[in-house]
Amino acid sequence: MRIGMLGTGVVGRTLEAKLTELGHDVKVGSRDPERSFAAAAAHGEIVFNATNGMASLDALGMAGAENLAGKVLVDVANALDGSAGFPPVLSVCNTDSLAEQIQRAFPEARVVKALNTMNADVMTNPALVPGDHNVFVAGDEDAAKAEVRSLLQAFGWPEARIMDLGALDAARGMEMYLPLWLRLFRAAGTPHVNIAVAREP
Ligand SMILES: NC(=O)c1ccc[n+]([C@@H]2O[C@H](COP(=O)([O-])OP(=O)(O)OC[C@H]3O[C@@H](n4cnc5c(N)ncnc54)[C@H](OP(=O)(O)O)[C@@H]3O)[C@@H](O)[C@H]2O)c1
Repeated sequence: MRIGMLGTGVVGRTLEAKLTELGHDVKVGSRDPERSFAAAAAHGEIVFNATNGMASLDALGMAGAENLAGKVLVDVANALDGSAGFPPVLSVCNTDSLAEQIQRAFPEARVVKALNTMNADVMTNPALVPGDHNVFVAGDEDAAKAEVRSLLQAFGWPEARIMDLGALDAARGMEMYLPLWLRLFRAAGTPHVNIAVAREP
């Protein structure tokens, strides 16, 4: 599959490496005109938003609505504002989320929130964290979520550990988990921590 990877940070690089290893044709986009967001988005049948969450709307604007229309847009970003030091605060929360802002700004994109609740290494290598643990998906379209679920399974996530939290407004909770994740990271002393949802059978 042709995949557009918007973002050159650790997340973009990690996802690019795994998707390439799986045989996909990945084009990475950045602000650099030599490998622009627009070229990467145009290339992708699926597009990942792995840009800084405070700048994602700008980055997606550079990618171009026409290059996102009709495509699954996997939003991995968190809108963390670190301008006042640690801990960073969410620039959007409670009644809205970055994923919903993106969906409103790009109504023809098929936005699915996923993978934002864990460190980049764990996204594509869930076995780094021992035992059963979870990845979440949220989005307004079941067919779009099914495409993302199959990529997650290829990354190594067991189907039973991929939890569909419902419509895209579930991204509010997924993004608002970040303040807790940052504390878990510090308390655990490793970024390789994740949520394991326990429930009655
Ligand atoms: N790091 C993790 O383990 C982790 C885990 C879960 C979720 N996330 C989320 O995933 C996203 C990517 O994280 P990251 O750590 O890989 O990288 P990052 O440093 O948060 O973002 C890097 C990307 O953002 C772009 N960017 C930065 N400022 C921009 C601006 N003003 N306008 C347009 N684009 C801009 C950069 O463009 P250039 O390529 O042009 O520099 C680069 O591609 C973030 O939203 C983060 O919160 C990260």
